[in-house]
Amino acid sequence: MAKITAHDIVKLKADGVPIVCLTAYDFPTAAAVEEGGVDLILVGDSLGMVVQGADNTLGVTLDEMAYHVRLVKRAASRALVVADMPFMSFQESDAATMAAVGKLVKEAGAEAVKLEGARPETLARIRLIIGAGVPVMGHVGYTPQSTHYFGRRRVQGKTAAAARALVVDAVALEEAGCFAVVLELVPRELAAMISRGLTVPTVGIGSGPGCDGQILVLHDLVGFYRGYSPKFVRRLANVNAVMTEAVREYGRLVRAGEYPAAAESVALDARTLAELEAERRPGD
Ligand code: KIV
Repeated sequence: MAKITAHDIVKLKADGVPIVCLTAYDFPTAAAVEEGGVDLILVGDSLGMVVQGADNTLGVTLDEMAYHVRLVKRAASRALVVADMPFMSFQESDAATMAAVGKLVKEAGAEAVKLEGARPETLARIRLIIGAGVPVMGHVGYTPQSTHYFGRRRVQGKTAAAARALVVDAVALEEAGCFAVVLELVPRELAAMISRGLTVPTVGIGSGPGCDGQILVLHDLVGFYRGYSPKFVRRLANVNAVMTEAVREYGRLVRAGEYPAAAESVALDARTLAELEAERRPGD
């Protein structure tokens, strides 16, 4: 099946087809997500929490992101692979931003990148990246890299002034050339309003059904992560429980001498065995 491009993602909105997105962080999770038929895989810096066990996304390095993108890319034959630009990889300078994009796209194989926020400097860097031929996904509303600024994970755009500011940010991202805009924790009416106003698709997370597509953290969706799970998550499996149960059963079998069975190991051929036994001195 043909590889999905950023242009195809925009066309899905034009055709009225909801866009299905999920995160993945390594070969097996990407293989499951790819086989499940998603349009876009985000190698999100949420990996800091659900893979590395940190409290937030801030500690994820560029090298770590590149590593995870490389693993995901090996399994993603159809879905568009988008790499998150880690905290402080695009804030410092144009040169550092482009070096980071180079690492993610040229070395690791990302097909687009995602940046959080819509400050004037961020918009300028988005234009620079797009100028180099790399599609960019925007991200506004609650932006996890600003966790210390927000204080806690909370819905954004709840007052008229904050809602207007969010609309301005989303439009600015489209005007800067983003092929899609993630809306995280935005009230559903506002998210629908923004979605109707943009030509490029919005991808909602905790922002209601009016977005053009949806994204979730895979580990939340399948119950792989034991930590905090936001209210908007619909957990469709309990992978963690399945894994823990398998591990318990393995422990029971080993302790009971029931694993491995004969069929789960290899026998010496009879001649070799006889030869070895003949060499054994009596009493050995
Ligand atoms: O890091 C991430 O996984 C994200 C999505 C939740 C949008 O930014």
